[in-house]
Amino acid sequence: TEAHHASCESRGLNKVSWGFPPRTQVLNFHGNNLHVIPARSFPGCCQVVSLYLGFCKIYKIQAWAFRGMRSLKYLHLSDNDLTSLEPEALVGLPKLNNLHLEGREPTDTIPQSLSLVPNLSVLHLEQNAISRLQPAGLLSSAAPALTNLYLRSNAISGIAKAALNSPNIETLHLDSNRLTRVPSDALTDTPNLTELNLSQNPVQWVGPETFQEMSHSLQRLYMNRMGMAEMSKEVLLSLGPRLKVLTVRGNQLKTLPDLSPLSGLELIDLRDNPLICDCDLLPRRRWMERVKLDVLGTCGHPVEVKGQKLMHTNGFATCPENNLRRTETDPV
Ligand SMILES: *[C@@H]1O[C@H](CO)[C@@H](O)[C@H](O)[C@H]1NC(C)=O
Ligand SMILES: *[C@@H]1O[C@H](CO)[C@@H](O)[C@H](O)[C@H]1NC(C)=O
Ligand SMILES: *[C@@H]1O[C@H](CO)[C@@H](O)[C@H](O)[C@H]1NC(C)=O
Repeated sequence: TEAHHASCESRGLNKVSWGFPPRTQVLNFHGNNLHVIPARSFPGCCQVVSLYLGFCKIYKIQAWAFRGMRSLKYLHLSDNDLTSLEPEALVGLPKLNNLHLEGREPTDTIPQSLSLVPNLSVLHLEQNAISRLQPAGLLSSAAPALTNLYLRSNAISGIAKAALNSPNIETLHLDSNRLTRVPSDALTDTPNLTELNLSQNPVQWVGPETFQEMSHSLQRLYMNRMGMAEMSKEVLLSLGPRLKVLTVRGNQLKTLPDLSPLSGLELIDLRDNPLICDCDLLPRRRWMERVKLDVLGTCGHPVEVKGQKLMHTNGFATCPENNLRRTETDPV
């Protein structure tokens, strides 16, 4: 396959050079100084599947820039200087599936031009300056086939109602943004949402019905370092039996609610919380043992057991017999 790979990486080029073998499938211009991609920049590149244009100081892509690239599936445009994308910048790419637009692109919104990319399924927009997600129905109209959307490390503080609704979205990463609440009303019609990352947003409090609409599909939920001091049983009820993975690492949790509504749970990550490993927590640990849950977590208090693994601590050894007996009759 080496023969099908053409590389002009970091050559100081200021325009796209031509004349690659017609069977070229991977074309790499990473790290040049292209600035502008004019119309029809890639003639004769109809077999190229992956095109790398990262770190090329591109600030403008003209309409029909990629015309003729009928086989293109992966387009890497990360770490450029794009402020916007012209509506027709990405037209004529019927197979484009995976688009990288992350890293220091000074764009403030999701480009509307994505509506013209019919088969786009994976969109990377991490580490940009996106602060707004609007208007309603953005995703279903902007990228009809989108299944994975990555928005880590932007400046998102609010999401318009229904902005993320999309019948196909499966993986949504909103981690490391500025959300102060879980954007439930932006996710009312996402029947296939299985993975949601909300870590490192200053959410602090998660209301009882937060995940109601997502409970039919959600399997993996990441809520690390959100400043949460408490989780209620109601929240867990709204998550329900489909959930397999829950991470709440690095919060302020001292106690845990009854976890039994999460009957499908396989892994819980409780690390870096000030959990109080006293007799009140014992019923939770017994439940975890009974259902053979994978548990990551250590005790924070009392001081004698600080740092011990929750599943191996001897902090419960002195709990009175009656306490043990009571937990044994807890409903499974
Ligand atoms: C669209 O993408 C899917 C994979 O996500 C692929 O199976 C399908 O063939 C693509 N459609 C076109 C027209 O290339
Ligand atoms: C959910 O995804 C499946 C394929 O994984 C697809 O067949 C189905 O149409 C999707 N649901 C909706 C409502 O589009
Ligand atoms: C979720 O987000 C956090 C914070 O950005 C990140 O460290 C973690 O890797 C993410 N988890 C997954 C499964 O993507």
